[in-house]
Amino acid sequence: MKFYITTPLYYVNAEPHIGHTYTTVAADCLARFYRMKEWDVFFLTGTDEHGQKIYEASQNEGLTPIELADRISEIFKNMWKKMNISYDRFIRTTERQHQEVVKRIFKILLEKGELYKGEYVGFYCIHCESYVDIEDKSKPICPDCKRPVSEISETSYFFRLSKYQTLLENIIKNSEIVKPEFRKNEVLNFVKSGLTDISITRKNVVWGIEAPINEKYTIYVWFDALLNYLSGIGYLYDEETFKKYWPADVQLIGKDIMRFHHIIWPALLLALDLPLPKKIFAHGWWISGKEKMSKSKGNVISPEYYINEYGVDPFRYFLLREIPFGMDGEFSEENFKKRYNSDLVNDFSNLLNRSLNLIEKKFDGYIPEGEIDERIFEMSDEIYKKYSERIENISFSESIEEIWKLVIFLNKYLDEKSPWKEKSYDVEKTMISIFYGIRNLLIFLNPFIPQTCEKVAEMIGLEKKEIEKFENFKIKYSGRIKIRKREIIFQRKK
Ligand code: MSP
Repeated sequence: MKFYITTPLYYVNAEPHIGHTYTTVAADCLARFYRMKEWDVFFLTGTDEHGQKIYEASQNEGLTPIELADRISEIFKNMWKKMNISYDRFIRTTERQHQEVVKRIFKILLEKGELYKGEYVGFYCIHCESYVDIEDKSKPICPDCKRPVSEISETSYFFRLSKYQTLLENIIKNSEIVKPEFRKNEVLNFVKSGLTDISITRKNVVWGIEAPINEKYTIYVWFDALLNYLSGIGYLYDEETFKKYWPADVQLIGKDIMRFHHIIWPALLLALDLPLPKKIFAHGWWISGKEKMSKSKGNVISPEYYINEYGVDPFRYFLLREIPFGMDGEFSEENFKKRYNSDLVNDFSNLLNRSLNLIEKKFDGYIPEGEIDERIFEMSDEIYKKYSERIENISFSESIEEIWKLVIFLNKYLDEKSPWKEKSYDVEKTMISIFYGIRNLLIFLNPFIPQTCEKVAEMIGLEKKEIEKFENFKIKYSGRIKIRKREIIFQRKK
């Protein structure tokens, strides 16, 4: 089985913020989940580097656009490294190979009659890199970001989007392409309201891929950027890889870029006679101070602070646990700390401390051998089924809730058996069962908090590879296992 997953390509006009880390961590979690099922996974992310917005940002910083793109794409890569993002490829739209693919696709579409030359008269929002409809022409403001827009009137090549209206309607209605489900109507209504052909070349934008024709045009940045999902896995130059992974299984996006992904993108694929992605899931926004975070509003929360103050894994955990994936959520330190102290410190870290302490005291650090409480395996089985179902449905928070049933069970089990008391019985059985319960937790939590799971595995005498396959949660070891050096995994924060 294969699993191809993508994130949007992030603009290089600004450094990564929490919104970007959100989509990327979610994609990473899915990629890790399917790798643990031993599927053949391809995880693509990268940066979107052309267009007016980047050009202007570079001018403001006194750099050339490619200098800015080199600098910011490096910062994205470093951030992903810090956050243990296991992408298979980081694509940059300024790469030669990507540019070649975009030009060839332009030519193919031109030859197929999917493009035609016309005149674009209308408004353009540089911030959204989008052609926009304006209600009040005396005050031309972007309907989405509310910034002033510019008027353009120029010859251009158009893509026949309108031609796909009925086909798209049917596809959206009858497939899983628009996710979550509650977004379907919104997209359908937009399609039904009428699609107009879109201009895919610009006359006076210098920072873009040159259109492969005898006139001077650059290619519209969204046309360029969307095609990364094809060029990133070899379309038109490595057919074997492309055939192996296309169509995409899950494409993650924020709800801000649904129209590009749920309408223009499938239409382009239809025009190219390519199969459509299985799911394009739009998640909600992190809000800060009641507004969507953005550089210009000055309410951007830096991931660095949380990573340094709490650690990478608590940050990953919070992003995926706090809010159901399709919904908006307020990002605040207060909520972060609450979640951190209750789930990671009280429930998880304390379970580890108490258990390992006992094993050290009572058994000299050796995991006792003998009978295991079968409930641990029965429960793990059931949890794994539900957890898988939920994660396959892209419900991260709900899937963690499932896993947490085991954390809660183990804590309760320990309390009930009270193996620290003088007169406790079944101490061996209790502790060996707790050990296997913890082992299974590490397997289940691995896609979410991989670094922590690896560290704890090492602490309890296991190897990394033993918690890297879901299959392994059924295994019972033979031979003595000794816990290694112990440390407190998560410290309470005041
Ligand atoms: N370059 C385009 C995408 C091209 S894809 C072919 C773009 N880039 S972006 O840098 O603006 O990043 C947009 C994505 O970042 C959103 O779709 C979303 O995935 C994520 N987020 C940015 N801000 C966000 C929040 N405040 N909250 C959650 N995620 C948001 O659009």
